Amino acid sequence: MTTILTVNSTDPDPGAIARAAAVLRRGGLVAFPTETVYGLGANALDAAAVARVFEAKGRPPNNPLIVHLAGVDQIAQVAADWPAVAARLAERFWPGPLTFVLPKRRELPDIVTAGGPTVAVRVPAHPVARALLKEAGVPVAAPSANRSTELSPTTADHVLRGLAGRIDLLIDSGPTSGGIESTVLDVTVDPPRLLRPGLVTPAQIEAVIAPITRSIETTASAAGLPLRCPGQMPKHYAPRTLLELADGDGRGRVEELSKTGMRVGWLTWKDAPDVLGAVRIELPLEPAAYTARLYAALHDLDVAAVARIIVARPPEGDAWLAVHDRLRRAAHS
Ligand code: TXA
Ligand code: MG
Repeated sequence: MTTILTVNSTDPDPGAIARAAAVLRRGGLVAFPTETVYGLGANALDAAAVARVFEAKGRPPNNPLIVHLAGVDQIAQVAADWPAVAARLAERFWPGPLTFVLPKRRELPDIVTAGGPTVAVRVPAHPVARALLKEAGVPVAAPSANRSTELSPTTADHVLRGLAGRIDLLIDSGPTSGGIESTVLDVTVDPPRLLRPGLVTPAQIEAVIAPITRSIETTASAAGLPLRCPGQMPKHYAPRTLLELADGDGRGRVEELSKTGMRVGWLTWKDAPDVLGAVRIELPLEPAAYTARLYAALHDLDVAAVARIIVARPPEGDAWLAVHDRLRRAAHS
């Protein structure tokens, strides 16, 4: 049974937060909102609780989790080092959607980091996440609250689509504002390396520190070996419906498929003309607004039971990097 608590997103009720924190402390699983997507939290210091996260998600054991903290003062509980570059970036971007890969502290259970020597850490900005982490008083391992390889959830309904009955508690605070996941930056290497593009862009990072390595590895590990670049599986962030990227506004491909009698979902810009029979969702051609609504739109098309989703390829450029990364993986079948 999954208990659902409705909690105000800007002024969370302390009673509800205390209840959720108690579930975390006794080894339970709590899905909660962050400013990026909903996370599925467990006490990071409790190996059995973290094992339940992998089980609930169907997550491969070689894919490590992000540990969420209430503040920088908790870093030493999970990491063995806090490099100067991380401190500078944290000053600018924390609390917020930037995750650092740091050397792991030995006492942190190995299951959190998939047996690897590094740990991913962030301090989220969402008031509900902040209140929960503070009240729980422990570091909280929290991947996105979806089944492995599927779309991340930006609403409580999305969480339930994948995880109903598999988690103890869900905090429903409405839609998340960011819409896609945090940026993951490896600061154990010099220069730091971008592992996953996200809400914080490389240009924003490079306005604070020297240039970073931007090349993203896309090779998945074979045979369950620890991933060299975890999270970079070619198929990920995917709706259940087959997704294709199309050039221009996508209209040509949508018409072609619709003519064969197929029910097509179409994600495109405002003011693209209708195609008869297609289920169209329009997103604004502005990166932050597009990003905020992308997953919700894909969830909606999934629920609309279309046979194919055609996505008009977004523009290029730094601000669209994370969107391209997610759409490429979503399109990988
Ligand atoms: O915005 C977010 O980051 C959300 C919210 C809930 O905070 N969380 C999230 O977690 O997206 P998850 O588990 O879905 O994605 C974590 C990513 C994965 O790509 C994982 O492989 C990578 O971070 N990661 C975790 N630990 C790592 C490590 N030690 N080294 C490299 N990559 C790591
Ligand atoms: Mg995820």
